[in-house]
This record gives sequence, structure tokens and C-alpha cells, in this order.
Amino acid sequence: MKKYVKDLVVKQVEFPHELYVLLKLTDSEPLPETFPGQFVEVKVEGSPQTFLRRPISINFVDREKNELWLLIKKVGEGTHKLAELKEGDMLNLVFPLGNGFSPVQKQGEKVLLVGGGVGVAPLLDYGNYLKAHGANPVFLLGARSKSDLLEQDLFKSIAPVYVTTEDGSEGEKGFVTQHTLLNIEHFDRISVCGPKPMMVSVARYAKSSGTPCEVSLENMMACGVGACLCCVEKTVKGNVCVCKEGPVFDINDLTWNI
Ligand SMILES: Cc1cc2nc3c(=O)[nH]c(=O)nc-3n(C[C@H](O)[C@H](O)[C@H](O)COP(=O)(O)OP(=O)(O)OC[C@H]3O[C@@H](n4cnc5c(N)ncnc54)[C@H](O)[C@@H]3O)c2cc1C
Ligand code: FES
Repeated sequence: MKKYVKDLVVKQVEFPHELYVLLKLTDSEPLPETFPGQFVEVKVEGSPQTFLRRPISINFVDREKNELWLLIKKVGEGTHKLAELKEGDMLNLVFPLGNGFSPVQKQGEKVLLVGGGVGVAPLLDYGNYLKAHGANPVFLLGARSKSDLLEQDLFKSIAPVYVTTEDGSEGEKGFVTQHTLLNIEHFDRISVCGPKPMMVSVARYAKSSGTPCEVSLENMMACGVGACLCCVEKTVKGNVCVCKEGPVFDINDLTWNI
């Protein structure tokens, strides 16, 4: 897929949570083709510490409105700077990068999409794609507490949503892998994005239940195009750059202890 370096206009800035910002970007011409699970490398202006671009997943693409959304958690200098952007500002992106989640395999397939924390970001776009192409997505989203659940109304507008919170303030109490859904439903495959311990637990469940499973890795990145080797992951096929060969991998290709 062709890659672009583009200045997009910040059309809307929302704060769904005190630690998150949602940037809705647009362009004067139709946005390039992207696939769910791909990411952008964002140039952060105005700070010497943020010389390197920051990788951010494509949260959603609204073709009718010609918008590309980025859901960003404020963790350090770069992401805090991004949260200061105002409507009308420009943001320089290199995109679309990496390989996304798997395309639809068969009509009517049941796909479980498991997300935790800011890892829910790419699943909104993926769920929307699956539904539009004849699959049946189901979301299972985990958070610390009810107030940490993001974009719930949007997820619910696409497919059924099941939730776990660590404090039990919403959905079932505990972790995603403890949700009763996993004991009663069979899924054709599972896609996961979230903190590594969560992805490992889901991968273990998938392996034990014989369900194909892919995970989206968030290794530290710099160039985003396979040149600097700072995002290398050991796989059964050798060391690979997550930015170029991933970020989505079949769990059978990883060397995780599952
Ligand atoms: C493919 C990919 C997709 C991503 N998608 C999103 C997304 O949709 N939304 C989002 O908010 N974040 C996403 N991230 C993580 C995001 O890139 C980092 O949080 C960001 O680069 C941190 O920049 P910073 O300047 O704010 O923090 P820094 O000052 O660089 O670091 C602050 C803290 O964040 C940690 N950190 C930095 N980079 C990462 C990383 N890649 N993974 C985990 N911890 C990190 C550092 O260890 C440090 O503790 C993604 C990362 C990857 C690799
Ligand atoms: S980030 Fe440079 S090789 Fe992956």
C-alpha cells in the first residue's frame, strides 16, 4: 500500500477522559486508503525531546466526512504536546504504516475483538470494517474502572460489547480472560490489542481453546518503516521489524511462552 507524508488539518479535538485526547483530522482531498490495524507516525512540533515521530494507531476512518481519528493517551512529552493541538492546526503524518489485522476470511464468521486500555483504539476501525464486510464482530473490552472505558457508544453502535473492569464498576469484575462470555461462546478467531500481559493471557486462552488468534504489538518504534531496527521482535521466522512485518502477528509466529 502506498505511503504518504501529509499535513492533515485538525478538524476537531475531544477529551473523552482526563488522560486521553481524540484528534479528528481531515484533508482537502480524499484521505488515502488505509486498513484497520495500520498506524501513522506523527511529527510532534515544538519540543527537542520529540525529534522522533510517535507511532499512533488509526482509531477510525470516516470516509463520508473524510476524517481520520487518532485516540491518544498522554504518557510523555510527545503525547502531551499532541493533546495541546487546537482546531485548525496542522499535523504531519507518515501513513499508512505496517500491516493491519486479517481481512474477512468468510461471510458470517464470528470474530472476538479484545482490547485493553488505549489498545481499544484500532479495534473500533476493525470492528466497523468486519461488520461492513459480512463478518460478525463482538467486542470484549477491559479497563481498570468504568471511567476508563473509552468510545463505548461508538463500539456499541457497531457490535455487541462485553466489558470487564478490575474494580467491578462496569460489566464483570476482573480481567478480560475471566469473562463468562469465553465459557459460553465459540469464536472463529480472535484479534487482540492492549497491554502485553493481557495479550499473553488471551493468547493462552486462544491456544487452549484451539481458536486462531492475532495480536497487535506496541514495541518501541522510531522510523516506522523498517530502517532503524529499534522495534525488532523475535519470531519463529527470525527477528522481524514490528513496524514493517507487523504490528499484527499470528500468535503461532511469536516466541511467547504460552
Ligand atoms: C504500532 C503502535 C501503535 C500505537 N498506537 C497508539 C494509539 O493508538 N494511542 C496511543 O496513545 N498510543 C499508541 N502507541 C503508543 C505511543 O506510540 C506511545 O505512547 C508514544 O510514542 C509515547 O510518546 P511520548 O513522547 O508521549 O512518551 P515518551 O516520553 O517517549 O515516553 C513516555 C513513557 O511512555 C513509554 N512509551 C513510549 N513509547 C511506548 C510504546 N510504543 N509503547 C508503550 N510505552 C511506550 C515510555 O517507556 C515512557 O515510560 C502505539 C505504539 C505503537 C508501536
Ligand atoms: S521503527 Fe525503525 S525499524 Fe521499526
